[in-house]
This record gives sequence, C-alpha cells and structure tokens, in this order.
Amino acid sequence: MSSNIPAVLGGKPTFDQMISIVRPVLPSFDHLKLEVSGILNGGMVTKGRHLRAFEDAVAQHLKIKHAIAVSSCTTGLMLTYQGLGLAGDVVVPSFTFMATVSALVWAGLRPVYADVDRGTTNLDPAAAEAAITPQTSAIVAVHNFGNPADIEALQAVANRHGLKLIFDAAHGFGALYRGRPVGAQGDAHVYSLSPTKLLITGEGGIVATNEDELAERVRIGREYGNDGHYDSVFAGFNARMPEFNALLGLHSLKMLEDAACRRNEVVDIYHEQLGRLPGIGFQVVKNGNRCSYKDFSITMEPEAFGLNRDELAQALAAENIDTRKYYQPPVHRQTAYAHYTNGQPLPETEWLSNHSLSLPIWSHMSDEVALGICATVSRIHEHCRAVQKALVTA
Ligand SMILES: Cc1ncc(COP(=O)(O)O)c(C=O)c1O
Repeated sequence: MSSNIPAVLGGKPTFDQMISIVRPVLPSFDHLKLEVSGILNGGMVTKGRHLRAFEDAVAQHLKIKHAIAVSSCTTGLMLTYQGLGLAGDVVVPSFTFMATVSALVWAGLRPVYADVDRGTTNLDPAAAEAAITPQTSAIVAVHNFGNPADIEALQAVANRHGLKLIFDAAHGFGALYRGRPVGAQGDAHVYSLSPTKLLITGEGGIVATNEDELAERVRIGREYGNDGHYDSVFAGFNARMPEFNALLGLHSLKMLEDAACRRNEVVDIYHEQLGRLPGIGFQVVKNGNRCSYKDFSITMEPEAFGLNRDELAQALAAENIDTRKYYQPPVHRQTAYAHYTNGQPLPETEWLSNHSLSLPIWSHMSDEVALGICATVSRIHEHCRAVQKALVTA
C-alpha cells in the first residue's frame, strides 16, 4: 500500500491490481465433479433431477409453495407480468435496473414511474399511490440493492386499489424482512441468479409465489406456452434453466447465509470508517430487516465532502478501485423508456441518481481490502482541493 498522496496527484495507487466492483463466490469444482460427470454421462442436460432439487431447496429456503427456476430474472418478470394477466399501466420505480421496466414493456404494459424514498432508495408507498390511475393494474417494487421494500405499506396500497403487487427481487437472496427471507409477500417475487448476486447459477432466475394459477402459467410459459399437448395455451418462450446451472445453484444456496453475513460485516467496516467523513450517507435499512448488500452504495454531498460523486469515482479509478453509478441514468431518462414519463417530477430519483456511488463489495471481501478502500476515500477527502484541481486540468 501506498504513499499518503492520492494517485491522481502522483502518489502510488492504493492497489496494484484493479479491485473490481464484484467478485462471484462459487463452489469448488471438487464439490461438483461427481454430479457434473453424472449429467454428462446420463445425457440429461435440461429438465432433470437437479432442476427439481434446486426448485425444492429454494422453495424450502423461502418458505414458499412454488419456486420456479427460469433462464433469468428478466424472463421471470416477463412471465410473471403475463401470467398475472396484467393490462394497461403499472406503477414502477425509475430508480432501478432497466430490466424491471424492459420486462413490463415486453409484456405489453405501460410503465408509470413513481419516486423512491431517499433513505431506503426503495419505492415510496405514498408516491406509488399518487401515481395510480383507473388504468393501473399493478405495482412493481424493487428490494433495491437487497434492502427489503416497505412491503406492508405497499400491500396496503395494492389492497386499497385492488391491484397486483410484484416484487423485483433480483437482489433479494440474502435479504431478510422482519427476520425471514423476502419472498412470501405480494403476488410474486422474482429473483436474479446472475454472477453479481449472492446466490449464483451463472445466469438464471426464480419466480416465487404461493399462487397455484400463476405458478402453472409460469411453468407453461417457460415451455413456449406448451402445456404438453403441443396446442399452445398462450404465447410463451423458452425460459428454462439447464441442469448445470441448477446444480451450481444447489451448491451456491448452501453458501448463501455465509455470503449475506460476510457482506454485512464488510458494510459494518464501511459504515464505521466512512461514517467519520463529512458528506457521506448510507442506505437506510429498517430495524428488523437485513439487506443482502448485493451492492453497497454511498451518497455524497459535494459541499461537505469537498468533491462530487463523479470526481470521487475518477480519483478512486486512479487508485485501482472500481465503482458504479447505480443508477445513472435512471430508467425514465433512458432512450428507450423516456417517452413513458408523464411529466411527474421524480426529485428523489434524480437526487440519488446524481449523488450515489457503489463501492466494491463481494461475499469474501477481506477486512484489509475494505479498510484499504476506506483509507483511500479518506485520503482523497483530505486532499480534496488539490484533487479537484488535478481532475479539472487532466
Ligand atoms: C433490479 C434488477 N432487476 C432485474 C435484473 C435482471 O436480472 P437478470 O440479469 O437475471 O435478467 C437485474 C440485474 O441485475 C436487476 O438489478
């Protein structure tokens, strides 16, 4: 490690190699090799016993009736929106990953953006209620970065207006709502199992629901809409999860609790160290809940910190520390989705989009790496004036 001078001012970078924003933690080949060779020797590479075992294990973990494995969270969302028979408008946050909204558009629905709460970064139930029109059929909320949404208040809004409630739980494995895994609430939860998540199948998703009819439609939908009679019941597509991926998921599930606990320990370090610096804010996790910390995001007040979010990101890149600006631009400012805006201002979404910075986190990050990142942020803050000047002239 490093001189006391930030790298943008000519010091040695804190890290010799890039500290990436995420590193997937995977089971070792030794743990899988017998079953992998079983799949290869048996020739059953899809729709086999590992898929069924994985779905059963996930259903048990979530304490849910149906856990249906699909090819991705995006296809799971598309099948869920379709399976619930939604029509017209759907209230959705814009402060989310694009797939929450792209799946709505693919299902023939119109996104109506509602603002989020600045602290939790999740859909604000009052804003969601204000966005409801006679055309609204559902609310989609996100457990953003793995922070459980305000489920009770959102369910009350949905009940008052007779709407479906779906959770984009892409970041949800490892998150606890009132001490239990998120999943049983609303009409459905839809998870991602891609490599940036805590539970990984390579690519993949889970639709979790207690509703038999929806589960049946998602199962048929992931098979082209074919219920086995080759007379399509509705237009589906291929959204199946292969056996290798299900096997990986089964082993990854055993590592989930450790992953969530370790990420929370790393976040304790971030909070303790970065909380000493002016102008840095953290996502608010409500008492009794646990965030999965699929991402760890800070907010930055430039006047207090001495640098804005973009300047800090640039200064950290020079130190070999990777960051992300989740989510900039927010969905309602993206080329494909901007025309859905109804002119309703989204001040909290805009603020978060301009002030948030995600720092590296992964499920086996060492204390040393976390402390090194914090010390670097602190050093950059101490030299903020010179750093700013150097960035302007660079
Ligand atoms: C909030 C959210 N929804 C949906 C998705 C899409 O997930 P997938 O890549 O499994 O389709 C992601 C991806 O990270 C996401 O962050």
